[in-house]
Amino acid sequence: MGATMTKWSPNSWRAKPIQQVPAYPDLAALKNTEAQLATFPPLVFAGEARKLKKQLATVAAGDAFLLQGGDCAESFAEHGADNIRDFFRVFLQMSVVLTFAGAQPVVKVGRVAGQFAKPRSSDAETKGGVTLPSYRGDIINGIEFDAKSRIPDPARQEMAYRQSAATLNLLRAFAQGGYASLENVHQWMLGFVSDSPQGEKYESLANRITETMDFMKAVGITSETNYALRETDFYTSHEALLLGYEEALTRVDSTSGDWYATSGHMIWIGDRTRQPDHAHVEYCRGIKNPLGLKCGPSLTPDGLLQLIDLLNPDNEPGRLTLIARFGSDKVAEHLPKLVRAVQKEGRSVVWSSDPMHGNTIEAAGYKTRPFDRILKEVQSFFEVHRAEGTHPGGIHIEMTGKNVTECTGGARAITAEELQDRYHTHCDPRLNADQAIELAFLVSDLLKKSHPVQHKQAVNG
Ligand code: PEP
Ligand code: CO
Repeated sequence: MGATMTKWSPNSWRAKPIQQVPAYPDLAALKNTEAQLATFPPLVFAGEARKLKKQLATVAAGDAFLLQGGDCAESFAEHGADNIRDFFRVFLQMSVVLTFAGAQPVVKVGRVAGQFAKPRSSDAETKGGVTLPSYRGDIINGIEFDAKSRIPDPARQEMAYRQSAATLNLLRAFAQGGYASLENVHQWMLGFVSDSPQGEKYESLANRITETMDFMKAVGITSETNYALRETDFYTSHEALLLGYEEALTRVDSTSGDWYATSGHMIWIGDRTRQPDHAHVEYCRGIKNPLGLKCGPSLTPDGLLQLIDLLNPDNEPGRLTLIARFGSDKVAEHLPKLVRAVQKEGRSVVWSSDPMHGNTIEAAGYKTRPFDRILKEVQSFFEVHRAEGTHPGGIHIEMTGKNVTECTGGARAITAEELQDRYHTHCDPRLNADQAIELAFLVSDLLKKSHPVQHKQAVNG
């Protein structure tokens, strides 16, 4: 209620109430940085965002599956080529597993090359009797627990922009320069720990793909003649939280005359900043990129329809992805009424499951997520869609290509005591490479069940 529709401009959000804003002590410096960023080249192009929107429209129609994932928070410290490659490799492996099982295209969207700003549940953090401002992501302040690091520093926005550009550059090279060719499906295995529980399963799937490719080669379809075997479309996304940064990178597309966020292909609104009459919804409604909207337990069916009216008034397929993040014990209660309301009003959306953010607990002094709860949330999500006759369109996960110990469980059965071994995240606990691929196999079983006929045809014919 109360969302007044005034004329939109890239800065019209500034007149609205806003949550989760950092307290920059030097506003003149902030203004300078934003003015500087506004002169920098766009990171992505409007045509790419439109292409992604088209692909998401096929997900909304039930003909493709969305895989969205990456770090909870990218960091300046973890900006090596190996890191980016390891992430991309696991992402490709997951995608191959899902494509093969679902016999549907997988739309690939990384939480990467811009995923720096973090909403926090508290403005302050207290440790050993000392209270400091909370860490809000490397684009805003430093994670170290000392007063100086925690001061919001506008110069960090420029660093985040440059890191995003470099990350995106490498990802584009990987996606289009041969690394992502399906002929490399075996090589993506390299670097996998040899006794990986998922290794054997992946290897046998890779063998089947290679066999198929050999057959196709014999009939004249090769990666040289067919771009789809050689390259992949890979897109970037992040939470559009730091609106001054987003505004500076908002540009008019010369082809269409429309405004686009050029900080990433897709941006989403977090669960804490989705008030219909507030700044984040205001900013997002005016740009033409595909949008995500996190849907948590406090969202009512009417509240959701109001947000859909604001964010996708023309009911454009592919424009809006609803990212359900309720918690494994709450999906079955909350999701059906939202799905029904959307169906009843005939709104076109992509439904995606974020099984991470409603399943965070504390164990042995660490924030963690039990793998079985993550899996259970995805299972319930699929069950709800099956019951409602709607398409379980995708998953949204926090993951890394590294062998970290941040989420408990999985085939390797990481215990709470082992969390301390390799707990590196700057924010929320991520699935490690093994757990991410294990999840992909489990989701692939769910996909086979939800498209049994299609799958049979794909395998037999
Ligand atoms: C996130 O995706 O990292 C996040 C903070 O999610 P949510 O807004 O759903 O809590
Ligand atoms: Co997170």
